[in-house]
Amino acid sequence: MRITIFGSGYVGLVTGACLADVGHDVICVDVDSDKIARLKNGQVPIHEPGLETLIQHNLAEGRLRFTTDAAAAVDFGLLQFIAVGTPPDEDGSADLQYVLNVARTIGMNMKDYKIVINKSTVPVGTADKVQAAIAETLAGRGAELAFDVCSNPEFLKEGAAIEDFSKGSRVVVGTDSERVKRAMRECYAPYSRLQDKLIFMDVRSAELTKYAANAMLATKISFINEIAHLAERMGADIEQVRHGIGSDPRIGYHFIYPGCGYGGSCFPKDVQALSRTARSLGHESALLEAVETVNHRQKGQLFNKVSNAFDHDLKGKTIAIWGLAFKPNTDDMREAPSRTLMEALWEAGAKVQAYDPEASDECHRIYGQRDDLRLCQHRNEALEGADALVICTEWKAFRAMDFEALRETLASPVLVDGRNLFDPDIVKAAGLRYYAVGRGDSV
Ligand code: UGA
Repeated sequence: MRITIFGSGYVGLVTGACLADVGHDVICVDVDSDKIARLKNGQVPIHEPGLETLIQHNLAEGRLRFTTDAAAAVDFGLLQFIAVGTPPDEDGSADLQYVLNVARTIGMNMKDYKIVINKSTVPVGTADKVQAAIAETLAGRGAELAFDVCSNPEFLKEGAAIEDFSKGSRVVVGTDSERVKRAMRECYAPYSRLQDKLIFMDVRSAELTKYAANAMLATKISFINEIAHLAERMGADIEQVRHGIGSDPRIGYHFIYPGCGYGGSCFPKDVQALSRTARSLGHESALLEAVETVNHRQKGQLFNKVSNAFDHDLKGKTIAIWGLAFKPNTDDMREAPSRTLMEALWEAGAKVQAYDPEASDECHRIYGQRDDLRLCQHRNEALEGADALVICTEWKAFRAMDFEALRETLASPVLVDGRNLFDPDIVKAAGLRYYAVGRGDSV
C-alpha cells in the first residue's frame, strides 16, 4: 500500500518505519527541512531502541522516503496518517493547529479519494474538525472529491515503541465506513496474522479510548504512589504491598510501581486535557484532578527527602543525580521528575552533578550552561565531591551498586532512591542512610 505520514516526530517515525518494514511504500513528510535532510541520510533525531536501524534498512530498500514536499506527499498515499504534535495550550487543552494545518494541506493538494487517519492524540470530536477543514479547503478550490476521516490512536511506549507497534495488543480504528475498514485491515494485515488485532468502533469512541487508556494507567500510578505515602507514615513497605495486591489478576502487576511520579509527553498532557475537556462539558472530574494532584505532589517528594536528610539546609551542598530522562531507554526529559528535583535544589542553593546514559544533551538543551549544574560523562564522575546521591530513573545499569564504595565516596552517606531499586537491609548494612519511596523502615 502507498502510505503518507505527516509529522516525523516520535509517532510518525515509528509508524512510518514499521509500516515500511512489512512491505508498504511509505513517505514521511515534515515541515522541518533540517530534520528531513538528516533523516534522508539515516540520522534519527530521537533515541529509540532499534529505530535507526529500521529506518536505515528501509531507506536502503527504497520503501521509506522523507520529504518536505507536502503536495507530492498528499498525492502519493491512499492512506494519509496525521502524526503531528498536539502540545497543550495555556489552559491544558490540546492545541490542534498543527493537525488542522495538515488537514488543509491535504484538502489543498488531493487529486483523488483519500483516507485521512488521525494518529495524534486528539480530543474527542477532532475527526469532525478535520473533516470540516478538508471539506472547506476542497470547496475553496471548487473541487468535489471524496474522502474519509478515521481515528487510529497509537499506544506506543517510548523505549519499546517498535515492539509495541509490531506486537501490540490491539489496533483501534474509529470509522463507520466499510471502505476504510477494508483499507485499514490491509494496512495492518501483516501484524494480524496470528490474531485479528483490529477493533473497529465509532470515531468518537476511538478518540476517547486513547485518553481513557492513558488516564487509567496514570490513575494506577497515582494510586500506588498514594498508598506508598500512607505506607511511609504507617511503617509498612509498599514493595510488599505491591506484591500482595498485584497477584490478584483483577489488579495485576503492571503499572503499579511506586516512584517519583509519572512524566513524559503523554500521561501529564492527556490526563490534563481530558480533565479540561470534562470541565468544558460541565463536569468536574474529581478523579482525574486527584490523579494530577497526587502526581504533582509525588514529583516533589524527592526534594523533600533530600531536604529532610540535611535538616532543610541544602545551601552549598552538592547533590549527585543518576537518571535525568523521565524513564529508561529514552533521552526524553519532558515533565521528568528529575527536572522538578533539580529546580528545587537550585532554588535551595545546592549544586547538581548529574549523569544519564542518554539525556545529557537534552538536559544541556533545556538548562544551558550554569554554575550549579555539571553534566557528567560517567556515573562515578557525578559522585565526586557529592554529599548525596539521588536516583531519578531506573536505568538498568544502576541496579548493581557497590554500596560500600558509595558510602566512602559520598560526603554524607545519603542515598535517595526514587525507584525502589534496592533492598533496604543491604543498603543500610553498608552504612548508608537510605530514603526510598513508601518503605516505612527506610525513611
Ligand atoms: C504512555 C503509555 O504507556 C502508552 O501506552 C501510550 O501510547 C503513550 O503514553 C502515549 O500516549 O503516547 P510513555 O509515556 O512512553 O507511554 O511511558 P510509560 O512507559 O507509560 O511511562 C510513563 C511514566 O509513568 C514514566 O514516568 C514512568 O516512570 C511512570 N511509571 C510507569 C511509574 O511511575 N510506575 C509504573 O508502574 C509505570
